[in-house]
Amino acid sequence: MAKILVTGGAGYVGAHACLQLKDRGHEVAVYDDLSNGHLAFVQGGPFFRGDIRDRARLNAAFETVQPDAVMHFAARIEVGWSVNHAAECFDVNVGGSAALLEASERHGVKAMVFSSTCAVYGEPQTPTLRESHQIAPISPYGRSKAIVESMLQEVEVRGGLRSARLRYFNAAGADPLARMGEAHDPETHLIPLVLQVAMGQREAISVFGDRYPTRDGTAVRDYVHVCDLAEAHVLALEALLAGERGFVANLGTETGHSVREIIEACERVTGQPIKHRVADRRFGDAPSLVADASFAHRKLGWTPTRDIDTIIEDAWRWAQRQRAHQDHTLEAV
Ligand SMILES: NC(=O)c1ccc[n+]([C@@H]2O[C@H](COP(=O)([O-])OP(=O)(O)OC[C@H]3O[C@@H](n4cnc5c(N)ncnc54)[C@H](O)[C@@H]3O)[C@@H](O)[C@H]2O)c1
Repeated sequence: MAKILVTGGAGYVGAHACLQLKDRGHEVAVYDDLSNGHLAFVQGGPFFRGDIRDRARLNAAFETVQPDAVMHFAARIEVGWSVNHAAECFDVNVGGSAALLEASERHGVKAMVFSSTCAVYGEPQTPTLRESHQIAPISPYGRSKAIVESMLQEVEVRGGLRSARLRYFNAAGADPLARMGEAHDPETHLIPLVLQVAMGQREAISVFGDRYPTRDGTAVRDYVHVCDLAEAHVLALEALLAGERGFVANLGTETGHSVREIIEACERVTGQPIKHRVADRRFGDAPSLVADASFAHRKLGWTPTRDIDTIIEDAWRWAQRQRAHQDHTLEAV
């Protein structure tokens, strides 16, 4: 059992990771400024509200918790936003990570699991992406994550903290008991947006581009269930705590689904027709991003087990629960 400080633990992926850390008997403390997270997702354990750039607040949290390891999810996550707000994106994602790294080292932390992304690869040169693929991010967001990866690698090479840099593809789905799920504002991820159409909260879904060189012309992505991702984080953390050296690993299912296929799967799961409109393709959107996750399998024994229907069923249960909660709140006003 270890004490883990989780930055961004009130957010979507971080909160799911906290649940699994606790299930495995670890002690969890969350550090989050709630800029995009939810206090309701923090289920037990100490909570520190603070910005990762705030060194004094970070130090106070480390003093109190005395963590053995850190899981670092806190970041600005919107790729589109980052294009016009590069300085702020770098400030939070790179500057905040540097502050966290400093505090970790000052308090003798030896291991960190870091949320990286497939956006570090840029335009794919191969049908599936291996960790050895060139790093050529095309957005400030992707670049900020690539910089933090290098920073962590540099620290480790010099004998400092060891880190797992996990490059996830598209996180999706929700806790099967609907205790938490995706709740971003504004929401930019495909599955929750499509489910908003199924619930009548949105008129239609925009399909950005239908002339890609893919099987049906729409963009293909690798959707990985957030609970599978959380499992990989716990495995990576335990490997580091057992003394393993740091590493980089892709986390994906190795299966791509096109936007049209996701819409069809959502129609199948929800039983609702889903209206869509084709719009121009967006700058920087790759035709297809699919993981080669064989390294994570070899290194951690990790294999994602939840398929696309399970992802959508869990996301649908969560979306309905949120709507029921909103209706209840409106009635109470
Ligand atoms: N969701 C995905 O598909 C995906 C894919 C690849 C990588 N990632 C990475 O995974 C991590 C988690 O993503 P998510 O989808 O859970 O996002 P999220 O926005 O739900 O979670 C991020 C959390 O960090 C917090 N935060 C943001 N800025 C902060 C700051 N300056 N100080 C303290 N806390 C701050 C937010 O309040 C939020 O709770 C991010 O680092 C993201 O870049 C996500």
